[in-house]
Amino acid sequence: MTFEQNMLDYKTTIEEALKNIVFLNCSSNSFHRKLIDSMNYSIHAGGKRLRPMLLLEANRILGGDNEKAIPFACAIELIHTYSLIHDDLPAMDDDDLRRGKPTNHTVYGEAIAILAGDALLNLAYEIMLEAIEDRRGIDASRILAESSGSRGMVGGQSVDVLTEGISVEKDILEYIHMNKTSKLIQAALKMGAALAGGSEEEMSAFSGFGFHLGMAFQIKDDLLDIEGNEAMLGKPIGSDATADKNTFPKIVGIEASKAALDEHTRIALSEIEKIGGDTVFLKTLASRLLSRNS
Ligand code: IPE
Ligand code: IPE
Ligand code: MG
Ligand code: MG
Ligand code: MG
Repeated sequence: MTFEQNMLDYKTTIEEALKNIVFLNCSSNSFHRKLIDSMNYSIHAGGKRLRPMLLLEANRILGGDNEKAIPFACAIELIHTYSLIHDDLPAMDDDDLRRGKPTNHTVYGEAIAILAGDALLNLAYEIMLEAIEDRRGIDASRILAESSGSRGMVGGQSVDVLTEGISVEKDILEYIHMNKTSKLIQAALKMGAALAGGSEEEMSAFSGFGFHLGMAFQIKDDLLDIEGNEAMLGKPIGSDATADKNTFPKIVGIEASKAALDEHTRIALSEIEKIGGDTVFLKTLASRLLSRNS
């Protein structure tokens, strides 16, 4: 199978599973229909589905049962999607385009957008709780909880917004990027490995790979905000400069950002070498993310 076919297969599997989440399907006649519509709007707006894909691939590499990992893959995409809805709100990045469509709050209003995010977050845990069969499921759920809360994504987002307009030192910049973005990408890999019963060494290799891949991912995101194309990216260009965000290009310059992107990718690729088994898909994915335009 080619890399592209493999990626498409994962995307199809994930999108089918997201469509089949009963809660999102069956409540369209109830009083809270607008909330459900708003949740569905962002969940089905597209997106690369990178995090669930990484989860399923880590799980597959270690011989896990991908069918059983699917609810966990959906959960991380629900959390990621909620974080995007909130990230775009006027109180945060104040953006009007996401995944090539008007942002959730511009369609449904701020109140419903906030609540849709809250509901997607809760739904993620509901789905995982229903899917837990043993210790592995508990471990995976805990990884997601830790990585997306105050010691992870939400913590990073808080420093991101609190430091708008202030130029921070590199350690704070790295704190922001590690927490707001890298932790969730790392969580995807660790969750997949945990669900497959990975050893300590395997967990640590996936964790190292995920950390560096996640840092590279956010540095590239910062660069795309300057050098990208809105139609391809599906979100506005120049949003970081308008908000005077602490990005890699702002703090270290474009050339040093590109060097950091290469370096994090290089280290990610060396971490994955520590894992036996077929890691070709992950390696190709890491390399392709270097030159992505969406
Ligand atoms: C966007 O994530 C937010 C960041 C962490 C940079 P993605 O680039 O994975 O967004 P989608 O899911 O493909 O829309
Ligand atoms: C967002 O970082 C990270 C999240 C946790 C959502 P950005 O604010 O740079 O993401 P985009 O560029 O809006 O997707
Ligand atoms: Mg942001
Ligand atoms: Mg943003
Ligand atoms: Mg960005």
